[in-house]
Formats: sequence, structure tokens, C-alpha cells
Amino acid sequence: MTATTTEGHNSVGSASREAFKRAQRVFIDGTTRVTIERDPIPRYMDKGEGAYLVDVDGRRFLDLNGNFTTLIHGHRFLPVIEAVTRQLQSGSCFANPTLAEIDLAELICGRVPGVETIRFVNTGSEAVMFAIKAARAFTGRPAIAKIEGAYHGAYDWVEVSQASTPDNWGQEDAPARVSYYHGMPASVLREVVPLRFNDVALLEKQITAHAADLAAIVLDPMPSRAGLIAPIPEFVTAVQRIAKKHGVLIIADEVLSFRQGYEGASARYGLSPDLFTFGKIIGGGLPVGAIAGSRAVMSVFDASGGRPLLPQGGTFSANPLSMVAGLASMTALDGDAFAHLEQLGDRLRGQLAAAIARNRAPFSVSGAASLLRIHPKAVLPRDFREATPTTAQAHVMKELSLAFAESGIILPNGAAACLSTPMTTEDTDHVASVFDDFLAKRSDIIESLAV
Ligand SMILES: Cc1ncc(COP(=O)(O)O)c(C=O)c1O
Repeated sequence: MTATTTEGHNSVGSASREAFKRAQRVFIDGTTRVTIERDPIPRYMDKGEGAYLVDVDGRRFLDLNGNFTTLIHGHRFLPVIEAVTRQLQSGSCFANPTLAEIDLAELICGRVPGVETIRFVNTGSEAVMFAIKAARAFTGRPAIAKIEGAYHGAYDWVEVSQASTPDNWGQEDAPARVSYYHGMPASVLREVVPLRFNDVALLEKQITAHAADLAAIVLDPMPSRAGLIAPIPEFVTAVQRIAKKHGVLIIADEVLSFRQGYEGASARYGLSPDLFTFGKIIGGGLPVGAIAGSRAVMSVFDASGGRPLLPQGGTFSANPLSMVAGLASMTALDGDAFAHLEQLGDRLRGQLAAAIARNRAPFSVSGAASLLRIHPKAVLPRDFREATPTTAQAHVMKELSLAFAESGIILPNGAAACLSTPMTTEDTDHVASVFDDFLAKRSDIIESLAV
């Protein structure tokens, strides 16, 4: 099935097309991130301005991607520019600690219930990797349990069953351990227990069966790639109860979901994790990750008395540029900023739902706070399997994001869309009206959802 347009960045002579020609000579597939959207050419960006992006062909877009939900204040946020500029003039990185890392640590420890102490790394993937190693070091057990379809970055163990498909995901009550890349070691597969989001019976069965080997349950309180679906209270309570019963730690991966509130996502949903991972917004647009938790569990990193149970370093860990950018960004994320994002998110989700109802279209909307996802499903999915689109549904979503791009909006396809603090009701009204228009005028492809 072809895209409906050859205009814009795909057209002959566009600056994006020219850039892609150069990129294809030096990158095996023309990009350096598998997550880059292309149709078939990626859109090359020139700059960002608040809630907006400008591509190399001079087109302007409302940015609902925000570098995969990182840029909670949008682009070129002045306090971040000032903080980073000041820091650059003092030096970009040192083999010694700086005051900047203490400032950001104090802010996060002061905000998040259950976070007494923290360590900084450079990406969310690295944070997840070290949180899992910390759980292993603390419990002396090798395996983890994770939600089928949930994304936690690039560490092998969390990649298991990240992209399961109807052909290979197995029974509902016995999800298969599906490898993510060709050559993934069988030993890794053996050390991962797949769970299904919000499925209490399966949770109980899997954790009980594998408890002796399990170091941790890794859980994003609202896993975006698995549908961006809210956890039901029974599931949260069960995770807490079963983990405690078997001495399995809970790792809350809040790399993406931390933006759901002043105290983060776990607090929002009543989860009390042993370890947290953070990333994205806490770096203010610079690379960052963090592992955090109680003193008792984090003591595995304690090198003050010699070699710790888990040594952890990193050339750029806690680099002062990321620390000052994160501090500037997080300081500006006060109660008012979160209230603005919450209201704007509720309003937009409501407007999208109203457009769906008005057009009697087979769509639904999930998400919370500044996060949202549109599903080409008449009934709101309850987990990854239900959220996985059929071929026809995936085609409709591709067409939807093309229609959005033609109307000046970047809408991530198959992942969470996000709002940023510079956005206004005018921006979200525009998003809602483009969606309404698509539903009203594109009956040709929407009808394909009925078959
Ligand atoms: C929940 C979650 N965990 C971990 C990661 C990995 O973070 P990074 O891309 O910074 O390595 C991501 C990235 O999107 C994520 O959404």
C-alpha cells in the first residue's frame, strides 16, 4: 500500500531527500536510530522553536514527539540554554564530581517518595541495565519478569518479548519468550519471564513458578509501546503483594512515565518500587539516565568501603552539562506546570474522543497527563496484544500520521504522543480539528477497518 502523498520532504529536490542521499552512503540504512520514522525518506530537522519544529525545507510543525517525550518544555527552553551556556564556560566534563550533580539529585530525592538516593548515567537503557544488575546484586538471583510488548531500551534481558507478534507470542496464559534480534543468546531468553499488563492471574502464576530465580519485576507503570494503558489498581496491588511475598524487587521504569506528575508515575498509581529508573525529562534535552531507590537496595553501589557488590562508573556519567540542563528543566516543572500539562492533556483526549463519537469511527484514545495515544480500535485496548494493530489498522495509522504531517503536526506512529509546557489550547484545538477532518473525510481507508 502506498502513501497518499509524494509532496513535502519526499519530493524530488527536497533538502531532506538530498540529505538522505548523503546519509545512505555513510549509514547502512540511511539513519543511526531504528526508531526514526521514514515514509520513505526521513524528515531532516533544522531547528526547534518552543512547541514547534522547522524542517530543512522550511516547513513548520507542532511537535507531538518531543524527541520521544524528552522535551517537556519544548525546544530551546531559555533556562536550559542559559544553564548549559554557563556550564560550558566552566568546562564540559571532569573526572571529579561537581556541585551540579548534587543539585539535581537533591531535587529528585526531594520529590519522589521512595527515592532516598540516586546515581546518574547517560541513557534510559543504561539506567535500566544498572537497575537490573542492582536487583541481581541485592537478591543474588539472575532473572527478571517483564511485561510483554513493553519497551525498556537496549539491554538484552528487557528486549525479550518486546516485539512479540500474533505468530509467535503463544498462549494468553503462557506468553512465549520471544527473541528481539537474530542471535539473542538462549540463556537470556531463559532468564526472562513474560507477564501481561493488568493480568493478575498470570502475574501470580508466573512469579510463583519462577520466584527462586527472579531478581525483579520490571514495570513501566504505563508502558507506552504496550498501548499506553493505565494500570488497574488490582494489578498494582498484586505486583506489590506477590513481589514482597517472594522477595522479588520491583523496578519501576519511569524513563518515559516520570512526566506524569510532580512525584512521578509510581506515586500517581500507588506503586511503591524498590528501584526506579529515570531518563528523558530529567536531562532537560541532554543525554541522561538515573537509577534510584532506598538506601538499603542502593547500597549495592556503595564503594566507600572498597569494591562494592555492583561497581558502576561511566566516562560521561553525571556530566555537568546534563546535570545543569536537567536541573533547569526540572526546577521549572513546578505544580503549575504539571497542572497545565494535565489540563491540556485531558482536554485534548476529550476532544479526540468527541471527534471519534461524532464520526462514529472505530478509534479510541489512551494515556494520562501529557501523554496520549490514538488506537485504530473501536474498543480501548487493555494490553499489548489488544493494542497490536492488524495490517489494515497499521495502514490507517500511517495515513493518519501523514495527514497530520500535511497539516503541520508531527504525530508519532505506534508510540506515545506528548504535550509540552509551551503548548496552548490553540495547539490542541488544531490537533483535534485535523483528527476530526481525517475521520470525516477519509472514509475510503477507515472503512478498511470494518473488514
Ligand atoms: C520506558 C523506557 N525505558 C527505557 C528507555 C530507554 O531510554 P534511552 O532511549 O534513553 O536509552 C525508554 C526509551 O524510550 C523508555 O521509554
